[in-house]
Amino acid sequence: MTEPEPALVPGQLPGGLTLRRPTSADHPRLQVALAEWWGGLGGEAGALQRQLLVPRLFLQHFADTSFLVERPDGTLHAFLIGFLSQTDPRTAYIHFVGVCPQGRRDGIGRALYDRFFATARTAGRSQVRCITSPDNRDSIAYHTRMGFRLEPGDRFDDRGVPVHEDYDGPGLDRVSFVREV
Ligand SMILES: CC(C)(COP(=O)(O)OP(=O)(O)OC[C@H]1O[C@@H](n2cnc3c(N)ncnc32)[C@H](O)[C@@H]1OP(=O)(O)O)[C@@H](O)C(=O)NCCC(=O)NCCS
Repeated sequence: MTEPEPALVPGQLPGGLTLRRPTSADHPRLQVALAEWWGGLGGEAGALQRQLLVPRLFLQHFADTSFLVERPDGTLHAFLIGFLSQTDPRTAYIHFVGVCPQGRRDGIGRALYDRFFATARTAGRSQVRCITSPDNRDSIAYHTRMGFRLEPGDRFDDRGVPVHEDYDGPGLDRVSFVREV
């Protein structure tokens, strides 16, 4: 099957960065990013879990609600994988987001989320949901800063964060976020 040309997304990003829709051909480098951009969270098992959480199907079937940011030389800078819930017509869902380590705290995560929120609103969605691992403190700080509420869990961790125990299977605890858009 011939790959379609990636669709550019209008709008400026700083530093000559380009925003476009991902395609199936981006899968190998997203797999590298999923292994390398999380600061070794969860060790090798964590890297494999993240890679398996972003199979190629997301790039084949959810590209219209996902984004990829490239540097002027074409290398990968950031990405967001999201979709509109088929089951709950109020909800849009952010499945994964990553900004390369050297590109952080520069507004790119916010820019990607703002575009996803706009996509969700245009599609008539009123809330955005996502989950993260309780160990991912940066993600919890970022989502809180981005206006997400932490949903009540089964227990609080040592920092008072509500945790859903075994949410995605035995030992796979998660923190759940929601934000109105
Ligand atoms: C989480 C992540 C996507 C944030 O991206 P980013 O481009 O650095 O975020 P931004 O610079 O747009 O920051 C947006 C806001 O969040 C805040 N923020 C970002 N990271 C933060 C952190 N680690 N601690 C506290 N606040 C943080 C920023 O200060 C900013 O607030 P402001 O605009 O009000 O000043 C990025 O750190 C990352 O890729 N981490 C590794 C992957 C990951 O954990 N993904 C999330 C789970 S799937």
